[in-house]
Amino acid sequence: MAARKRATSVASTSTTAKPPTTTETQPKTTEAPIAPSKAGQILKVSVIFFLVPYLYLILYHYNIEAELKRSILINALLSSAGFFLTLIMIPVASKYVLRRNLFGFDINKKGTPQGSVKVPESLGIAVGIVFLVLAILFQYFNFTSDSNWLVEYNAALASVCFMILLGFVDDVLDVPWRVKLLLPSIAALPLLMAYAGHTTIIIPKPLVHYLGLEVLDLGWIYKLYMWLLAIFCTNSINIHAGLNGLEVGQTVVIASAILIHNVMQIGVSSDPEYKQAHAFSIYLVQPLLATSLALLSYNWYPSSVFVGDTYTYFAGMTMAVAGILGHFSETLLIFFLPQVLNFLLSLPQLSGYIPCPRHRLPRFDPRTGLLTGTNDGTLVNLFLRKFGRMSEKSLCIYLLVFQAICCCFCFMLRWFLTGWYK
Ligand code: UD1
Ligand code: MG
Repeated sequence: MAARKRATSVASTSTTAKPPTTTETQPKTTEAPIAPSKAGQILKVSVIFFLVPYLYLILYHYNIEAELKRSILINALLSSAGFFLTLIMIPVASKYVLRRNLFGFDINKKGTPQGSVKVPESLGIAVGIVFLVLAILFQYFNFTSDSNWLVEYNAALASVCFMILLGFVDDVLDVPWRVKLLLPSIAALPLLMAYAGHTTIIIPKPLVHYLGLEVLDLGWIYKLYMWLLAIFCTNSINIHAGLNGLEVGQTVVIASAILIHNVMQIGVSSDPEYKQAHAFSIYLVQPLLATSLALLSYNWYPSSVFVGDTYTYFAGMTMAVAGILGHFSETLLIFFLPQVLNFLLSLPQLSGYIPCPRHRLPRFDPRTGLLTGTNDGTLVNLFLRKFGRMSEKSLCIYLLVFQAICCCFCFMLRWFLTGWYK
């Protein structure tokens, strides 16, 4: 049962430890109604850092043709409605998940009164449902003449939907983590099977001279690459986690960067197919960003809800399909730089070379309220070891700023390499 799973996860952080009995593990719990959302603060920050520059690019800076602009703006309006709907749904869904004993204890508050509050878990399910409704409804409002994109769009939605289902199954059944690494490989199948787009890559200009060709058809290897990318994106979001606001925060930063990248590419290109690919990505990522912001309003420090693997898998899969079908997977991987670093740091434990405990989180000191880095190979612990002990909220902000810096680095890299690389 989920409740036992979560309670155990607080007490036992070692794979070798014997599972303690229920009386040992269940801290004295207090049922508290979920705290009000922090939507005001979240909206203020996202308007300043994202919405204003984003709208400026769409409405003034680039000359985007009217039909495409209309589709993007309708999708943005639907997404805004999705933000408010998710904001309303989360407290309601919280009551239901708590009733079914789907909750977790905040490990980084263990030993304080907040550490014994049952925090509703798996609220990614509310976000995922609103996202799917928006993405399905949007098909009715898209005005581009070519409708071939609908096949891939629906295959992408099938993969996202499958991923939400498997993520929720994981939250409820607590699948062993080595098995959970495989779940995205199943969910990616609808997209792989329906994909009929090109399987070619453009050879970087400096290599054309050596290879003697400008375009290379990878055939099935391209599909294998798509598959691995989907598996990586989903798992890498899920294992860069465990701090209030980090799972959703990283998604919000990456999704914002993806949207700005898409608009810039639509703005500078004159190729209709290229524009359509990036528009496609916008149609998926705008609803992801809006619904995630609503979730962040409840998940920001101190979290009143947990997102669950339902959310981390859903967010990772949505960004992966956007990157695959938008044909910007290399750029996506640079946006994912912190996740790549975290994955590399995690490799010894993921491969079983070093024992991997159930939770690889920092050590919390209830007297000072500060976190100390442990030897577990994660970016979270590396930051604590490098920058010293700090509070959970500061650490999360540091990590999100680092994520944003990596996205800016990616934009700079693209700017420097344009014309020279591709
Ligand atoms: C992944 C990580 C694990 C990390 C966990 C945190 C790997 C291989 N696995 O496991 O090291 O500890 O994510 O999510 O790297 N929690 C908090 N505070 C938060 C978020 C979560 O205390 O801000 C705790 C809660 O008890 C919650 C639980 O983490 O119930 C959720 O863990 P889960 O998502 O099931 O962990 P995994 O994804 O398996
Ligand atoms: Mg998780």
